[in-house]
Amino acid sequence: MKAIILAAGKGTRLRPLTYTTAKHLLPVANKPIIFFVIDQIARAGIWEIGLIVSPENIDLIKAAVGDGSRWGVRITYIIQEQPKGLAHAVSVAKGFLGHDKFLMFLGDNLIEGGVAPLVEKFERGAAAATVLLKEVPDPRQFGVAILDERGDLKQLIEKPKDPPTNLAVVGVYMFNHKVHDAIAKIKPSFRGELEITDAIQELLNAGEQIHAKVLDGWWLDTGKKDDILEANRVVLDEYASKAIHGEVSEESKITGRVEVAKTAKVIRSVIRGPVVIGEGAVVEDCFIGPFTAVGPKSVLKNVIIEHSVLLEGCTLMDVGRVEDSLIGRNAKVTKVADGRDSLRLLIGDDSEVQV
Ligand code: TTP
Repeated sequence: MKAIILAAGKGTRLRPLTYTTAKHLLPVANKPIIFFVIDQIARAGIWEIGLIVSPENIDLIKAAVGDGSRWGVRITYIIQEQPKGLAHAVSVAKGFLGHDKFLMFLGDNLIEGGVAPLVEKFERGAAAATVLLKEVPDPRQFGVAILDERGDLKQLIEKPKDPPTNLAVVGVYMFNHKVHDAIAKIKPSFRGELEITDAIQELLNAGEQIHAKVLDGWWLDTGKKDDILEANRVVLDEYASKAIHGEVSEESKITGRVEVAKTAKVIRSVIRGPVVIGEGAVVEDCFIGPFTAVGPKSVLKNVIIEHSVLLEGCTLMDVGRVEDSLIGRNAKVTKVADGRDSLRLLIGDDSEVQV
């Protein structure tokens, strides 16, 4: 069994951050999202992974992920020249996949508990595919599944106006080689993409059995700012532990699960976990509330911050209260020094500021 990770999209909904990085490299709990995906695949016992990247992000992703030896896996980089759809990405990886069964993981999706039992079941079984589903309150933005009486997939409908069920298709799939023939038969959708839902529907039309697994745990799709904050919240809630490796001054108060990385400094501050503070960061005269990840080498002075993600090298000084924020590398937010009640901005294209 092999795996492919799809990371070739444009990430337009996460601009301006995705002008300078790939969305898969954005951190939750100070760790790039794609690292969690590779962890989950490696834990399912799959060691041959094709990483589908774009010509624009291949260098960035390669620099961060490398050859996979850190996870005990072998990563092959496969370029998809244009993001022409999830099924198109599979067709680009056809040479790498050969005749093998494979797991397909969207590089910006995470699921609770990983995929090991599902992979094992699919490997042993005869189904042409397995789709993962999650009950969602409003399925209109998703591929929606109808199941038969055995719980197998009967029909898939892409973004229905009037959803027949609340079972959304999650970005993790398993296929055998038959999907390649199905993809060869489908045409681009109205949005010009080769849709994986159409390929799955094609398999169903050909009479193939497709298993469905409805997830009980969380599913995170980190496509937008609020999704990253939510992923950060869930991952910190689940995995943060109390681990103080840096310096914490005596006047500081740390409660709950807080990780202070080595070489980080916490001075006269209150930190209420779950929180992670990256290497070399400085936190002085601050209150840091739950679900905050402070990137390496960031400097925070005299601020109150919670439920936020700060990338590497941010500076926040004397700006009162900050919440629900995602702040890019080396960004600075400081108070106007002459005390005038004005904003002075130098912000990148497609940035968003709420005051
Ligand atoms: P999307 O989130 O649908 O697209 P995107 O990453 O381009 O983001 P946006 O909509 O904000 O512009 O893609 C889901 C995942 O699939 C993501 O990890 C990128 C990947 N993908 C590919 O690898 N190839 C493709 O052709 C497409 C459409 C997506």
